[in-house]
Amino acid sequence: MRVSSTVADLRRWLEGWRTEGSVIGLVPTMGNLHEGHAALVRRAQALCDRVIVSVFVNPTQFGAGEDFATYPRTPQDDERLLARLETDLLFRPEAEEIYPFGAEEATRVSVPGLSTILCGASRPGHFDGVAGVVLRLFTIVRPDYAVFGEKDYQQCLLVRRLVTDLHLPLEIVMVPTVRERDGLALSSRNRYLTSTERLRAPRLVAALRRLGARMEAGERDWATLEQEAAAELEEYGFRVEYVRVRRTEDLGAPRPQDPPASLRILAAARLGRTRLIDNLPVFSAVEPSGS
Ligand code: PAJ
Repeated sequence: MRVSSTVADLRRWLEGWRTEGSVIGLVPTMGNLHEGHAALVRRAQALCDRVIVSVFVNPTQFGAGEDFATYPRTPQDDERLLARLETDLLFRPEAEEIYPFGAEEATRVSVPGLSTILCGASRPGHFDGVAGVVLRLFTIVRPDYAVFGEKDYQQCLLVRRLVTDLHLPLEIVMVPTVRERDGLALSSRNRYLTSTERLRAPRLVAALRRLGARMEAGERDWATLEQEAAAELEEYGFRVEYVRVRRTEDLGAPRPQDPPASLRILAAARLGRTRLIDNLPVFSAVEPSGS
């Protein structure tokens, strides 16, 4: 596995691979890699001849008082996992490489609408930071495919929208959420959980599953369903940011004619100092009554 920390070095490798006619895949990450990230790498490998994984804890997507300084950084473990997965290249730049004029002076890009709802409402500026770094990674690598996890569903939609809107010549691929056996979505932030919180954490996905089951059983009063799921989580000690039923396609509020199968349930909640997010599709193909 090659390891590059500069754009110039990375591009030297990329040039050779492009001359060979290789299809190039990119998996952007912030490191502290786990099986969720590994699933993205494997999907990229199934689609591409060469796979590049970036590890960059992007300062511009963290708000003041968030965990940028303490975000887990495990470069040796990451390198070992990626080598074992037979990743072609690990791109591990410093901030100066990504933001040559400094993060404060960086050219900004913002996706309206999607960047200010749900997680964007509780983390102002977060998705502008994501859009800015992802766009840079796309222009640096110029991949044919970039692979993202459904766990960050809003991020996936935002990146897709950015790609379509800016006519970027690549395809965004989404990989289903990888979970622990008890249902908890794998996340680098899970390591912040105390042992008691870790035992409680799967209640989040359990609440979403129950909400989905009620929708499958025909309930359509979203507001009540959302409130009850949030109240249930609060009882278990979560501080709920949101529980929402939204359209899968654009995360808009559901309309009466939307079939449950076109909807998704999304939530964010804090357990102690850990912010957890999760989301699930509503699998049911049941049509709303009267349609
Ligand atoms: P990070 O949190 O490291 O996640 C990198 C990628 O792994 C994202 O696409 C995320 O959705 C995916 N991922 C995380 N946990 C997953 C799980 N349990 N199952 C499947 N996929 C999972 O997301 C970011 O970094 C950053 O915002 C980034 C896109 C790299 C921009 O800085």
